[in-house]
Amino acid sequence: MIRLADFSRPLFFTGAGLSVESGIPTYRGAGGLWHEYDYRSYACQDAFERDPEKVWDFHDLRRRKVAACEPNEGHRIIAALPHARVITQNVDGLHQRAGSADVIELHGSLWRLRGNGTVVENFEVPLRSRRCDDGRYWRPDIVWFGDVLDPLVLQAAAHALEWCDLLVSIGTSASVYPAAELPRIALRRGVPSVEINPEETPVSARYAHRLRGTASEMLRRLME
Ligand code: OAD
Repeated sequence: MIRLADFSRPLFFTGAGLSVESGIPTYRGAGGLWHEYDYRSYACQDAFERDPEKVWDFHDLRRRKVAACEPNEGHRIIAALPHARVITQNVDGLHQRAGSADVIELHGSLWRLRGNGTVVENFEVPLRSRRCDDGRYWRPDIVWFGDVLDPLVLQAAAHALEWCDLLVSIGTSASVYPAAELPRIALRRGVPSVEINPEETPVSARYAHRLRGTASEMLRRLME
C-alpha cells in the first residue's frame, strides 16, 4: 500500500469532491451546482455579456457561501506535507487557506477579478463594486464554459506532473477537459498513483491504487 511518508515529491490533483466535507457542493451528481444553476445562464462569457448583474449575483452568492466554509482535514493533511504540490480544478481557495503554498489553479479563483487590463485579488463579501475604474464590469477570474485555459497555467501543471514521484487524484469526476487528461503526463511515466473517490470514474482504471471513500478518510489512511 502507498504511504505518503515514503515520497518526497507528492502531487495532488484535486476536484470538487475534496471540498465536500467543508460543505461546498460538487458540480455534478446529486445536489450538484450545475443542476440548480444552468451554466449557460451563469458560467459562460455570453451570459456575462447578456446580463452581468445576474452572473455577479451568482458569483457573489458563491463567494459568500465559500467564505463561510473552512478547509477540512483533507486540505490540512495535504498542506502539512513538506514539498507537496497541488493542481486543483477548484476555485474556492481552500487549499491556500489550509496553508498550501504551491497551488496551481487550473480553473481560476473566485477570489480574483479581471479588469482594467489586469487581475487583482479581492476577498470582499459582498463585492463592494462590480465595476472597475473604467466603468466596465469586473469579470470573475474563472475559466467558464467555452473559455480556453491559460497556457502558462497549463505549462506549470505539466511541469508539476513531470516533477512528481507520486500522483494522488482526489474528488474529481474527470469529465472536464483538458483538465481530465493532464494526469496522464505523470501516469505515462509510471509514477505510483492513487485515485480517491467514493465512486468509480471514467479514468479509474489508469490508477494503480483506487481508494473508494471520502477524501479525508482516505488521506488519513495514506498517512498510516
Ligand atoms: P464534479 O462535480 O464533476 O465531480 C466531483 C467528484 O467528487 C465526483 O466524482 C464525486 O464522486 C466525488 N466526491 C463526492 N464526494 C466526495 C468526497 N467526500 N470525497 C472525495 N470525492 C468525493 O467536480 P470536478 O471533477 O471538480 O469547472 O469538476 C470539474 C470542473 O467542472 C470544475 O472545476 C468546474 C466544473 O464545471 C469550472 O468551474 C470551470
